Amino acid sequence: MKKYLINTYGCQMNVHESEKIAGVLKDFGYEETTDVNEADCVVFNTCCIREGAEQKIFGNVGALKKLKQKKKDLIVAVLGCMTQQKTSAENLKKRFPWIDIIIGTFNSDIFSTYFQEALNKRKTFEVLDKELEVMENTKFFRTSGYNAWVNIMYGCNNFCSYCIVPYVRGRERSRKSEDIIKEVKGLIAEGYKKITLLGQNVNSYGNDKQDELSFAQLCKEICKLDGDFRLSFMTSHPKDFSDELIDVIASEKKMGKYVHLPVQSGNNEILTAMNRKYTIEKYEGIIKKLREKVPDVVLTSDFIVGFPGETEEQFMDTYSLVERVRYNSIFAFIYSKRRGTVAEKMEGHIALEEKRRRVNLLLDLQHKITAEKAGEFVGKKLEVIISKEKEEWIGVTESGLKIWLKECDKEMLTYQTVVVLSNNKNKLIGEIVS
Ligand code: 5AD
Ligand code: SF4
Repeated sequence: MKKYLINTYGCQMNVHESEKIAGVLKDFGYEETTDVNEADCVVFNTCCIREGAEQKIFGNVGALKKLKQKKKDLIVAVLGCMTQQKTSAENLKKRFPWIDIIIGTFNSDIFSTYFQEALNKRKTFEVLDKELEVMENTKFFRTSGYNAWVNIMYGCNNFCSYCIVPYVRGRERSRKSEDIIKEVKGLIAEGYKKITLLGQNVNSYGNDKQDELSFAQLCKEICKLDGDFRLSFMTSHPKDFSDELIDVIASEKKMGKYVHLPVQSGNNEILTAMNRKYTIEKYEGIIKKLREKVPDVVLTSDFIVGFPGETEEQFMDTYSLVERVRYNSIFAFIYSKRRGTVAEKMEGHIALEEKRRRVNLLLDLQHKITAEKAGEFVGKKLEVIISKEKEEWIGVTESGLKIWLKECDKEMLTYQTVVVLSNNKNKLIGEIVS
């Protein structure tokens, strides 16, 4: 049997899209492998959010040259965000003319057509200028255990000044709520215990359509479905984080009590320069309401440090925000200049050394907070799904926090309540409460 290997870079959206590519390859009769030497098809599903991602991908694709020379029938495909940028796609083709398929994100839904061409020894280089219509009834080969990703919208209209995503993912296109609900119903029937709704701005769902449910209404409808599952979503934008959504998270038992809400900066001038469309006061207002209505909510966020022109004081505003909010964890990124974005042309780009210093300061602070927060879980009751890791029983919370269980008489993949008994160097130990 022929084998495939898919290398996925970047966000959950890409991870899920790789499940779609895997579905296509399965249909062609291919099996998955993790050993590149036995692969008959190698796919790179790429990312371009930061420069580092692109450099890494160029290196990893180049490293396949020897194998391709040895194995003439090997099919190499590169697709996704990086190759949606014409210049990157052309560079890739120039440097590695032996690649069989180079396409972007706009046409990845019709990967099967290109793959058939490759089997017929015809190469494809096709980067479209416009998105294709949203396609339904896609077959996925899911690889994410008890969690199923469900893409509910594509693209982004926000044009944050640093971000390449709107250029490589196109404008917002929401799927129809009835199609989403039908898909989720099927997944629950198949036994998935966790449904994670995906979108670049998942809570802007429906804004591009008339007479469509709001994101909060969609969540509510999904929670009404029968079955023992939990519902999560990512990633949300503060500008569309409605009170209605907070109420749904608070009142619906099946809603995961976990919110990833990227703020990017703690300074209003930088937020304006980033084109984020909210103030820090509005953001903290959302956090306050969330914590009032969902006291145990787990909060995480994304930060960019060293945005062009960011002064020490403005960075310290971000630092203070992290001190004030006390997230459970954060992702902090060094600003990376992206071709064609508004920020690329801004004054005051900051030296890498300084950006590194700032990001390390922020991460050191968060490590301290994360450790303190882990301690705060002791004595608390948490809802977890029962699972196993290296033969040890664990309970995993909606946000991915693991509680090691001394013993367990419950079935795998059922939702249970545990009480955290101790915190051993950030390893939480607990037991099931009936
Ligand atoms: N440089 C650094 N980080 C970026 N992100 C998006 N664009 C850039 C960039 N140019 C970060 C943001 C976003 C996360 C997915 O990636 O924090 O929330
Ligand atoms: Fe990028 Fe901003 Fe869109 Fe998120 S909301 S994908 S950061 S442009």
